[in-house]
Amino acid sequence: MTLLVVATGNPGKLREMQAYLADSGWELTLKPPELDVEETGETFAENACLKASQVAIATNNWAIADDSGLEVDALNGAPGVYSARYGNSDADRIARLLRTLGNNNQRGAQFVCAAAIARPDGTIALQALGVCRGEILNAPRGNGGFGYDPVFYVPEQNLTFAEMTSEVKRSVSHRGKAFANLLQQLPHIEM
Ligand code: IMP
Repeated sequence: MTLLVVATGNPGKLREMQAYLADSGWELTLKPPELDVEETGETFAENACLKASQVAIATNNWAIADDSGLEVDALNGAPGVYSARYGNSDADRIARLLRTLGNNNQRGAQFVCAAAIARPDGTIALQALGVCRGEILNAPRGNGGFGYDPVFYVPEQNLTFAEMTSEVKRSVSHRGKAFANLLQQLPHIEM
């Protein structure tokens, strides 16, 4: 099996990617903890490519990275690539988002996830994107998930991300869609 280094320090993300790529024929492993890559890109795709590329070069292995966040229509796509840096905790970030939106009745939003795989020389072998449309509620609902999940409502399911089981969230979420797309492309990858 070919080794695929996951460009994250987060064991939760490693487990999630292992679930998506279970039958893909790749052996996933975490990046070395001392290896840090700054997310300086202006788009999710740029950040995913940057992280995959730099980790591939530093470890001389194939590497995979993803980058994701929330784009709110009425805020011109903010917080976008700054989603993780929008506050100091999930509660802070949600409070700031609801405060900023106020009574605005334009509540449309989308979660976006970009994923990229880089070859050991840093060149990008594959990219995938997943988008999930929804609406920002006026108050949180549900106890599951993480991040902005309790205020992100998906009309087709009549549930927020925080009210979904992880199976349902995986099937409709931006990350689930990005990885489904990545899996389809994997057999055609140029080694
Ligand atoms: P990153 O992809 O690890 O850089 O994280 C992006 C940030 O976007 C996270 O810290 C969350 O705040 C937010 N985010 C990304 N995906 C989700 C999700 O599925 N639910 C809730 N928040 C998310």
